[in-house]
Amino acid sequence: MERMYLDHAATTALDPAVLDVMLPHMRDRFGNASSVHQMGRQARFAVEESRERVAACLGAEPGEIVFTSGGTESDNFALKGVLAATSSDRPSHLITSSAEHEAILRPAERLQRDGVEVTFLDPGVQGAVTVEQVRAALRPETELVSLMHANNEIGTLTGIREIADVCRKHDVLLHCDAVQTAGLLGVNVNDLGTDLLSVSGHKFYGPKGIGCLYVRGGVDLGSLVEGGSQERERRGGTENVPAVVGFAEALERAVEAAEERVSHIRSLQEQLVAGIRDRVDPPFVFNTPVDSQDAIAPHIVNVSFPPVDDAPIDGEMLILNLDMQGVMVSAGSACTSGAMEPSHVLSAIGRDRATASAAVRFSIGKDNTAKEIDAAVNALAETVRRMRR
Ligand SMILES: Cc1ncc(COP(=O)(O)O)c(C=O)c1O
Repeated sequence: MERMYLDHAATTALDPAVLDVMLPHMRDRFGNASSVHQMGRQARFAVEESRERVAACLGAEPGEIVFTSGGTESDNFALKGVLAATSSDRPSHLITSSAEHEAILRPAERLQRDGVEVTFLDPGVQGAVTVEQVRAALRPETELVSLMHANNEIGTLTGIREIADVCRKHDVLLHCDAVQTAGLLGVNVNDLGTDLLSVSGHKFYGPKGIGCLYVRGGVDLGSLVEGGSQERERRGGTENVPAVVGFAEALERAVEAAEERVSHIRSLQEQLVAGIRDRVDPPFVFNTPVDSQDAIAPHIVNVSFPPVDDAPIDGEMLILNLDMQGVMVSAGSACTSGAMEPSHVLSAIGRDRATASAAVRFSIGKDNTAKEIDAAVNALAETVRRMRR
């Protein structure tokens, strides 16, 4: 049986060329970047050179890049860093959305328990909050707006640039979780206008457990991890040199290949949508706003199967049945799959419980083929037909 991996929003395979540049730093060049001797200096050079490459890919200055353990840490650092820096005796306010990743929602709830006012904006049916919603939610005490670039479950893009203009006018910082788009869409901090931006290596064929937070010069976040003076005292801990080097290599390769990759992935996305429309028995509903191509990331298609005659489809069984036919997809965010609750994103865009629970997220990668998409559509059509019988 041919197996096809269609879960690239969850993670991607490490590019062998990226592994090749990492290996020497695991074998021979194992020095600690803080050591003053030759091997230490070699490691320091590798870290700082990687920082320059990452900064260049994002349109940032090297000093604005803080290496972290990935998207979750970057998101936590952005929220807690900005809001912990505000004085406890005056009110502070955070604006975010109810469709964010858990890496934003959980720290936002923590801050709320600690006394920060938090507004969770509800996205519209398409899955993104609008600039008007942000403008209306701003208060004199708003410190930070945090919104994702592309939603990881349904792929909807947020109009970050317009929101950035409003934030700047009101002297409010903007953080963008660009974990799903960095290295795929042109993620440039100046074009987007963000003050803070989260990136994660394993979404673009880099290693897991490495990412960065872009922190615009002049923004002081303190430090989330206290310890040594690494990362200009913003994150203590001996640098993971192989991961840092692999992260820079993967990001650079992704940015260089982005145009070609996006056009390939976009054409497979169109094929997938057309195939579902042609061959899968109704009723189904696209959770990704597939008819607004400018409003969605190229790699994600999320589709739900509402109940027929009050008989809901078990979402987990649907995923497992597809897996048995070699099609690897997610029910929603990988971080929450396994939990029985329907996706908070699908609930936020107005899906009822049964429809939200029977959702499949396909996410396409650079190495998928038209043949695989064709086989995945056939498997989906067959599985849905069988499960409804
Ligand atoms: C939008 C978004 N933010 C944050 C994360 C967390 O990133 P990491 O897995 O690197 O911690 C993910 C991972 O799926 C994501 O999709």
